[in-house]
Amino acid sequence: MAGGGYDKVRSQSKSAEEQYAVTTARIKQIQSQLDNSVRAGKLKGKVCIVTGVGSLKGIGRAASILFAHEGAKHLYLLDFDPTNLPDLKSTIEKKYPDVKVTTAQADAADEAAISGVCDQALREEGRLDVFFANAGIASRDPLADTSVETFMNTMRVNALSCFLAVKHGSAAMLKTNPSRGKEFSSGSIILTASTAGIRSGAGTVDYSASKAAVNSIAKTSAYQLQKTDIRINTICPGLIETGMTGATFDYARQRGSAGKIGQLNPLGRFGVPQEIANAALFLASDDSSYVNGQNLAVDGGLSASHPVVPGRWA
Ligand SMILES: NC(=O)c1ccc[n+]([C@@H]2O[C@H](COP(=O)([O-])OP(=O)(O)OC[C@H]3O[C@@H](n4cnc5c(N)ncnc54)[C@H](O)[C@@H]3O)[C@@H](O)[C@H]2O)c1
Repeated sequence: MAGGGYDKVRSQSKSAEEQYAVTTARIKQIQSQLDNSVRAGKLKGKVCIVTGVGSLKGIGRAASILFAHEGAKHLYLLDFDPTNLPDLKSTIEKKYPDVKVTTAQADAADEAAISGVCDQALREEGRLDVFFANAGIASRDPLADTSVETFMNTMRVNALSCFLAVKHGSAAMLKTNPSRGKEFSSGSIILTASTAGIRSGAGTVDYSASKAAVNSIAKTSAYQLQKTDIRINTICPGLIETGMTGATFDYARQRGSAGKIGQLNPLGRFGVPQEIANAALFLASDDSSYVNGQNLAVDGGLSASHPVVPGRWA
């Protein structure tokens, strides 16, 4: 069949303008989910660390607020950039006064900082249950212009940070403390990878390599941590509107081409941080008690397909 049936699928699909109107309405609905949902206590009593929380439009901030909504006991929130940490702390404390919040300016790829926050959680709360290693940076240079320094820095921030979260987070999660309700070792470590870590076309060489490393770290360490009930998974977001991608969105909106963003995605749209936060909550909570060593794509179906252009053949 010509075009494998895709010509027909495309000819039936909405125009960019129609699709953008639907996207805007759908995103508004998703962003108001938290205001309309009861607190189910999915993270009740859990002590959690989240990195990369400082961006006002970021995945880390959305996840921190959702973790608080679900009754986390104490959130340790880290970012390299301290600018927005006081706002995040007060936002959570105002809305969820039962949740303790500790913020810190820290480099997620600094071993002393990461082992330090794990020790702090053990000292203050006697346990660590969740580590969401989400801090990351993107890069822009094409292959020929990518310097060794850029490559190594991307690997350091994106991949080394996840290695340190797994190494020190799991050591803390192995510690039991019956007096604090932890009879056996357990925990959930969630690493933010990317669809760029699954296949090409979603980032630079250094960024994609760093995220592929993150996906591998989850699989190999899940095996090494066998019989500990410590689970390690990654989330692979597709295109999400955050601080990292904001400039692309602003540019498209200025040019009136925002309707084109996400047009190659099966859902026909980009995503928002709350949708990644929902996946992080799933992986952090007991809802995912048998999910381990997985790379979970949360990308609207983007990574499910080979590239398809009607009239052209792979
Ligand atoms: N936005 C997307 O489309 C997308 C897609 C796939 C994966 N991701 C990943 O999602 C994660 C979150 O990014 P985002 O999209 O929310 O972007 P963002 O830029 O809005 O937030 C990232 C945060 O990480 C912080 N950070 C950067 N380096 C750090 C370090 N060394 N130590 C501590 N904090 C550091 C930044 O200050 C920022 O607050 C990243 O790992 C990113 O690679 C994003």
